[in-house]
Amino acid sequence: MEQDLTTERSGTFSNRPDAGSHSDKKVFVKTYGCQMNVYDSQRMADALAADGYRPTDVIEEADLVLLNTCHIREKAAEKVYSELGRIRVLKDERAKRGRETVIGVAGCVAQAEGREILRRAPVVDLVIGPQTYHRLPSVVTRARSGEKIVETEYAIEDKFEHLPAPARSTVRNRGVTAFLTVQEGCDKFCTFCVVPYTRGAEVSRPVSQVVAEAERLAEAGVREVTLLGQNVNAWHGEGPDGKEWGLGRLLFRLAEIPGLDRLRYTTSHPRDMDDELIAAHRDLRTLMPYLHLPVQAGSDRILKAMNRKHTGADYLRLIERIRAARPDIAMSGDFIVGFPGETDEDFEDTMRIVRDVNYAQAFSFKYSPRPGTPGADMEAQVPDVVKDERLQRLQALLSEQQRAFAQSLVGSDIDLLLEKPGRQAGQLVGRSPWLQPVVVDESAGAIGDIIRVRVTQAGSHSLFCEPVREAGLMEAARGDSV
Ligand code: SAH
Ligand code: SF4
Ligand code: F3S
Repeated sequence: MEQDLTTERSGTFSNRPDAGSHSDKKVFVKTYGCQMNVYDSQRMADALAADGYRPTDVIEEADLVLLNTCHIREKAAEKVYSELGRIRVLKDERAKRGRETVIGVAGCVAQAEGREILRRAPVVDLVIGPQTYHRLPSVVTRARSGEKIVETEYAIEDKFEHLPAPARSTVRNRGVTAFLTVQEGCDKFCTFCVVPYTRGAEVSRPVSQVVAEAERLAEAGVREVTLLGQNVNAWHGEGPDGKEWGLGRLLFRLAEIPGLDRLRYTTSHPRDMDDELIAAHRDLRTLMPYLHLPVQAGSDRILKAMNRKHTGADYLRLIERIRAARPDIAMSGDFIVGFPGETDEDFEDTMRIVRDVNYAQAFSFKYSPRPGTPGADMEAQVPDVVKDERLQRLQALLSEQQRAFAQSLVGSDIDLLLEKPGRQAGQLVGRSPWLQPVVVDESAGAIGDIIRVRVTQAGSHSLFCEPVREAGLMEAARGDSV
């Protein structure tokens, strides 16, 4: 699912050109990492479209290749270099045909490694950090004239104000769901994590900017918006009433936008779940009953060493309050096994908290020491074989819970937003309120419809459903999320 940070996506935007564009320059973007990178890739494509670049899904025909990278774990960062090896061959082949290719590295590896990338991979022409994407068109122009560029200074100006909005037709081509970054960066400094270094300090986008962007998306036919932030629930800003708004208040405002029938947000930190946000889960039918709330570990000793500033008991109490407000909410989380100093006993605390919470979905990782983070210098690093063994046990438990949750839905009726054609002919796919992929027959409705369906079967990754045909239900389904 989207949260899988190891997922690579290429051509995350459609390759269908906007009508009326006569440019022959093409850009290929490959996206690694989290949803924020997916959003950024689209905004980069928008900025380049204004400069005459059309997106392509075929790397061989691209005049500009951009890798939007992730630095969260060593494996994620290393992938970039193996990809650059392949790209070097491609660039040589194009050069033989007299075609110039500009190679750019963007994202969190760009920010973290900067000039080092040019040294390790001389094929690269430009390195650009996440805070300066609005400068991309001018940087590309300079790179085309032969200059090697590293642009990783934090910009003083607000990149979001300077990035062009996508054309309505572009939004439409991207589908009926959209991401919207409302917050960037992080001040929490968990001792394992690179994000505060790669994305900088926590910044919230102003209410008016967020509302305007959501309205534009809705007008172009988007029905589901996922608000994004590395610490999305730390978002805050001054509302039109002059009062300080939190994410809860913002969600109430966005729920008023006609056509936006589904709202989601990710990723949240347990310390920033305030009463108004919990109230939004209680009161807003458009806010999907799914919450990604990473705890990382169950042991208080390890949580302290991670600088999470909450205990396992705090987390469990918080979930109790959220479930009291919205009983059908499905919980999702992230876990790290093998943080320095983690004993067998500490790990059992993680297993215990997983059993207590009962997750519908989760992502778990072996601790990866990241250069420059305090965790990397801690003593008592855990051997890889121990990490492997713990990860296997944890993942077995988490997949069992995920399967049981999916199975519990068989026979019940749910709302489904139809998003796109399925992998097999004659099928459409969408998402359940709990973000599970759902497969139905294409006769069930049209893309963009929210229909009432009955779950007939729970597969390992998707639910299979049939439309509920009773009169009246279809309309009722539109106003009611579950
Ligand atoms: N801002 C989000 C998560 C950002 S990174 C949050 O605070 O929850 C996404 C996930 O990657 C984290 O939740 C964590 O589980 C994992 N992660 C981050 N750094 C890691 C590291 N050094 N090794 C292994 N996993 C890591
Ligand atoms: Fe990283 Fe912690 Fe910030 Fe999440 S809260 S982005 S894990 S430092
Ligand atoms: Fe990766 Fe950067 Fe996102 S490190 S997880 S792409 S914020």
